[in-house]
This record gives sequence, C-alpha cells and structure tokens, in this order.
Amino acid sequence: MADLQQAKEWLQQATGVAVLTGAGISAESGVPTFRGTDGLWKDYKPEDLATPEAFLKDPRLVWEWYDWRRGLIAKAKPNAAHRALVQLETRKRGFTLITQNVDGLHDQAGSGKILKLHGDIWRMRCLECGANFPNRRCPLPKLPPHCACGGMARPGVVWFGEPLPDGMLKEAEHAVSQAQVFLVIGTSAAVYPAAGLIPYAKQAGAKVIEINTEATALSAMADCVLQGAAGELLPQLI
Ligand code: APR
Repeated sequence: MADLQQAKEWLQQATGVAVLTGAGISAESGVPTFRGTDGLWKDYKPEDLATPEAFLKDPRLVWEWYDWRRGLIAKAKPNAAHRALVQLETRKRGFTLITQNVDGLHDQAGSGKILKLHGDIWRMRCLECGANFPNRRCPLPKLPPHCACGGMARPGVVWFGEPLPDGMLKEAEHAVSQAQVFLVIGTSAAVYPAAGLIPYAKQAGAKVIEINTEATALSAMADCVLQGAAGELLPQLI
C-alpha cells in the first residue's frame, strides 16, 4: 500500500508522464504473452516465425501463425488497464504512450498518440511496392495475402533483427527524457532497444514505476515496483 501511495503522489505531481507497455497489459484481455507461463515462445520458435529469414523461407507458415494470432486478438477487448491509461492521458499535459504491442488494444481503448515500436498486426507491408496498408480481414481469405499491386504482403510488425520504424526510438527517448514519471507496465524488459528506455529514463531523472505480476530483468532499476495485475493496479493508481 505504501508503494502504491508513493507512486500515486509521484504521478499526481508529474506534468510529464511517459508509459511503456508490453504483452502483460493485454494478458487480462486474453491475448497470450510471449515469455509468460503460457507464452507464445513456449510453443513456437521465434527464429521460425518472427524473422525476415523465416518469412522468406516459408511465407505461408509465417502467415498461418499471424492469421491465427489475428484471430485471437480479434476476439479481445481492451481491459481496465488500457482504459486507465486513456484516463491518465486526459489529465497530463505531457503524455506519451510507447508500446511494444502489435494488438491495437490501446487504439481500441481510445488512446491518442501511440508510439508503436514493434508495428501493428492489423497492417501489412508490400514486398514489391513497399506500400503499408491496413487489413483487418480475419481469417484472411488467401495465404499469403497480396498487395493491390500484386506483390506479396508481409505482416506490418517489426521482426527480430529488424530496425524499429524510422525515428520512433528517437521520439520515444525524447518523450522519456521530458517525463518526471516513467510507467513500465507488463513487459519482461528482455527485448532491446525497447527495454533500453528504462535506464534511459533513470539517467534523465524520471521516477521509474514498474507494474508487473512478477520481477523482471530491470526491476532492480525501478524506483517503485508494484507487483500485481495491471488491470487491478492501474485503476487504483490512476
Ligand atoms: N499484468 C501485468 N504484467 C503481466 C500480466 C498482467 N496481468 N500478465 C503477465 N505480465 C508480465 C509477465 O510477468 C512478463 O514480465 O508481462 C510480461 C510479458 O513479457 P513478455 O511476454 O516477454 O512480453 P514483452 O515484454 O512485451 O515482449 C517484448 O518480445 O517477442 C517479442 O516483439 C515481441 O513485443 C514483444 C517483445
């Protein structure tokens, strides 16, 4: 309780707040995480499904997996944690939401500006003409799907070994450096450069508040650790 009270005070006093979310914030919406107990990487190998090499080797296999994930996510609704962040955004002059999630649940909840570091599962990119376009068809009628130009499309997400979308990391670093509080929610802090934003925030003097059901790779760096489900803790905090 004391930690929650402390975190609340820091949040109330802050004019600038930045937030980093990971798969854990969508867990209570029924979207599987990657490294949790029933995490996706328990049953599937990232090198077979989430790298450009894997896609070139077998685009159909990769698309079967993404079509399955889209099916899961299509059934999911934003939860109380997503909604609490929309509330917080309305209250803070300086607010930036940075997410590693590709599920689009922050959008659905009504969040405004979202920096999607790892892209969006509801968008596709053409390998021929480079077009980046939305596609919410679920299930996809034909695998692999194609662009209007006839070129084969790939999922609009960032795969292992690929750079983040242009300029997005710089924008995220800038937002974090302007914040008095950096809320880190539902991420194992195992994947870089996203996880690098945590030491970056510390360096810039922000109070780091971590919300997670378990300890993470960077919990020791946090000024306040609130252990529990985001859907329960965030409404209390905000
Ligand atoms: N509330 C808060 N935290 C939770 C909850 C919950 N209800 N459920 C699970 N968690 C925590 C887990 O304890 C874990 O630390 O969420 C974290 C999820 O970690 P990962 O599965 O590793 O997901 P994430 O950190 O988002 O992964 C980063 O890795 O696989 C790639 O591109 C993918 O964006 C992803 C990136």
